[in-house]
Amino acid sequence: MKVTVVGAGAVGASCAEYIAIKDFASEVVILDIKEGYAEGKAMDLMQTASLMGFDTKITGSTNDYARTADSHIAVITSGIPRKPGMTREELIGINAGIVKTVSSNLLKHSPNVIIIVVSNPMDTMTYLVHKTTGIPKNRIIGMGGALDSARFKYRLAEAMEAPISDIDGMVIGGHSDTGMVPLTSHATRNSIRVSEFLSEDRLQQVADDTKVGGATLTKLLGTSAWYAPGAAVSSMVQAIACDQKKMFPCSTMLDGEYGLSDICIGVPVILGKDGIEKIIDIPLSAAEKAKMKESADGVSKTNGLLEL
Ligand SMILES: NC(=O)c1ccc[n+]([C@@H]2O[C@H](COP(=O)([O-])OP(=O)(O)OC[C@H]3O[C@@H](n4cnc5c(N)ncnc54)[C@H](O)[C@@H]3O)[C@@H](O)[C@H]2O)c1
Repeated sequence: MKVTVVGAGAVGASCAEYIAIKDFASEVVILDIKEGYAEGKAMDLMQTASLMGFDTKITGSTNDYARTADSHIAVITSGIPRKPGMTREELIGINAGIVKTVSSNLLKHSPNVIIIVVSNPMDTMTYLVHKTTGIPKNRIIGMGGALDSARFKYRLAEAMEAPISDIDGMVIGGHSDTGMVPLTSHATRNSIRVSEFLSEDRLQQVADDTKVGGATLTKLLGTSAWYAPGAAVSSMVQAIACDQKKMFPCSTMLDGEYGLSDICIGVPVILGKDGIEKIIDIPLSAAEKAKMKESADGVSKTNGLLEL
């Protein structure tokens, strides 16, 4: 199983590291446009192999896509991250050009590759890959909900003073500060609804903190986060590589599900060897439906800025 990670920056390197540590891929190729950068990250990571106990071979490449040939899965993290005070949507101008070129180059050397899009604004970048490559929709997956759900569970555990392993919960909708829809009514602690433990106000605070999870970290770090994004991508790559049939909220092209069409937005899907193997269309409350509609309107507005 060969995995390519485009972008050797914070998220790309973290993602490659977690994939290697989990030791399910035979090879990870990191590619970056910056001369020598991917080679350096790959060598540094390989020098952790004997310490961390993995056999995954990690190599680096400066923009040579021939080195990525016959990849099963490719992760696109190339592009600029936001700075404090910026929205993800403001990154569209530069990142759209990068994502378009990168996906086309990847497909020249790996025509059957499954693409995971991370670069922001992620839902719009996922839509762009659909519109410009024409590959089947099961092979184009946007990463946002897996991260936002991990942040939701972190905030729920914090509010309940509970271990995170007790918590289950999911965030759907657009991967933006205003677009995320934390499914508070479905979240549980050991199958008991979280509303049994937390007041309505506290739950609203959890949802609000989740939605600005990325912005909070960007303010603290001066750039966007990488550990949790890298871990989220690595779990999705593992689900595909190991045909786990695991459920994650992912950005996917909808065709009537959730009452939406011609849009990529976060909904629960099953990830297995074919990429997105199923979209799970769960019934939402009237309030959740309204939030999802509002979120989709925001994503469509950003999609409208693309020059297709
Ligand atoms: N979807 C999510 O949940 C999520 C989470 C975190 C970050 N992000 C996004 O991921 C992207 C990367 O973030 P980061 O913190 O790793 O940024 P970074 O600046 O650390 O790394 C980006 C890398 O991309 C490389 N790059 C730029 N153009 C390229 C090209 N044409 N080909 C190959 N490589 C190229 C750069 O040289 C750099 O090394 C950003 O757009 C960020 O907003 C998304």
